[in-house]
Amino acid sequence: MLYEIQTYGKKVLRRKTEEISIIDDTIREIVSNMFESMYAAEGIGLAAPQVDKSIRLFVIDLSPIDESESKRVFINPKIVAYGDETDEYEEGCLSIPTVREIVTRPTTIRIIYQDLKGDTFEEEVDDFLARVIQHEHDHLEGILFVDHLSKLKLSLLKKTLKKIEKGEIGVEASENFEL
Ligand code: NI
Repeated sequence: MLYEIQTYGKKVLRRKTEEISIIDDTIREIVSNMFESMYAAEGIGLAAPQVDKSIRLFVIDLSPIDESESKRVFINPKIVAYGDETDEYEEGCLSIPTVREIVTRPTTIRIIYQDLKGDTFEEEVDDFLARVIQHEHDHLEGILFVDHLSKLKLSLLKKTLKKIEKGEIGVEASENFEL
């Protein structure tokens, strides 16, 4: 089942999400639908609030840009440490269609999360995967990538963001691998 992608202006994108206490069939079905919805929109990462579910869960699949990657599910993720080094990358988001801006983020993170079996993992992650995880983790805190921009950059985007809010710009599959 395809979920509708929630776009900029929707309250759910600004809400802090709830921990998932039981990983049951309902959660497994949501995860499956999230992958389906993400692939349909040609995204490589999708967080639960983007499909109107205020729970601590996101999915990632970087295989379109890295063959060695495949489906990843992060339940109750928590970034517990950030490296000192940072890098810049032009990010996009399925919830903020047509907008792409350079965001500076730490290159390395340490994350604790559960998988669909409920097993807990602690991993050190770097480079692009670390960036995508930080973007999706932000979604769980009600933070969007435009929140990381300077006031000047943000003021230049104001009109576009208003248009998205009014529904004048919608989600379309793009070849940009949005998050
Ligand atoms: Ni996003």
